[in-house]
Amino acid sequence: MTRTVKLAALAKLNLGLKVLHKRPDNYHELRTVFQTISLADTIEIAYTPSRFNKFVIESGDDIPNNLIIKAAIAIMEATNAKGDVRFKLTKKIPMGGGLGGGSTDAAAVFLALPALTGRNLPLDKLTELAAGLGSDIPFFLLGGTALGIGRGTELYPLPEMPALNALVVAPHVHVSTPDAYRALKRKLTTDLPFQYISSFQSRVWSLGEQYCENDFQSVVFEQYPHLKSIQRKLTKLGAKPAMLTGSGAALFGVFDSSQAVKVALPAFARERAYPVVFVGRNRYRTMWRRQLKDHVLGEVWPPQSRYAR
Ligand code: C5P
Repeated sequence: MTRTVKLAALAKLNLGLKVLHKRPDNYHELRTVFQTISLADTIEIAYTPSRFNKFVIESGDDIPNNLIIKAAIAIMEATNAKGDVRFKLTKKIPMGGGLGGGSTDAAAVFLALPALTGRNLPLDKLTELAAGLGSDIPFFLLGGTALGIGRGTELYPLPEMPALNALVVAPHVHVSTPDAYRALKRKLTTDLPFQYISSFQSRVWSLGEQYCENDFQSVVFEQYPHLKSIQRKLTKLGAKPAMLTGSGAALFGVFDSSQAVKVALPAFARERAYPVVFVGRNRYRTMWRRQLKDHVLGEVWPPQSRYAR
């Protein structure tokens, strides 16, 4: 018997991003605040138990997304489940925009596939597998607003933010994340890291009034002046803050109302622009329970399969 689900996989913003020193594992030590937003990809998964594993993406869009397959393999191997797993992916989140598009698709597989196969995994194991595939994936196992430290995979839930209205602008520019880190290298401060952390924390605690900055902005704006002009335009239209997300190339502006977003939208007719709202952790989890409702039991997080023996 085939079990199917249709999932919304939400995008993220970085409301602040500080890049500290390079670590012995070659990743950079980060301080960031992640936020889930309403912009979403759609993933359909069909699982049929069988003696052998088979993974297929039957995507209408011609977009490679190896992370989905890698996530499925990681889950099936870790739980010793077997079967035929088919995906249909409808992309809406621009790739390479700093919006976590590839990461959220992978996280959706980490949350949904155990529910379909009947082999639950505890959250710490899911997080470990997710971090093995990408630094941004574990956040999507949590959702809402969260502080990310270390590689970005060590997460601390922050108080719920209101459902703020924002405009995400994704120019037709692709910023390579490793290149952005390399460009940043010249500007990183290695001294006084503790002072750096405490000043970041104090900004995080005052989130809502005073937002954080994004360290990638100076190097990315230098390379792509057009992005700086989008930031200026967002600010002029009343956005506060208006900033880059991740290493870009997408930017976002937070507005006072959905009406203000509507008024700003036509100014970005030449870019891809998306009105969004911030999605808090409660809404994120309710959404997840609703989309898995035929296959899970109870209110536990992560969702628990009803087929588990
Ligand atoms: O983990 P992920 O595959 O998303 O990282 C992509 C690249 O971004 C890494 O190979 C590394 O160059 C850089 N990165 C980093 N420090 C982090 C996260 C990512 O240097 N904390």
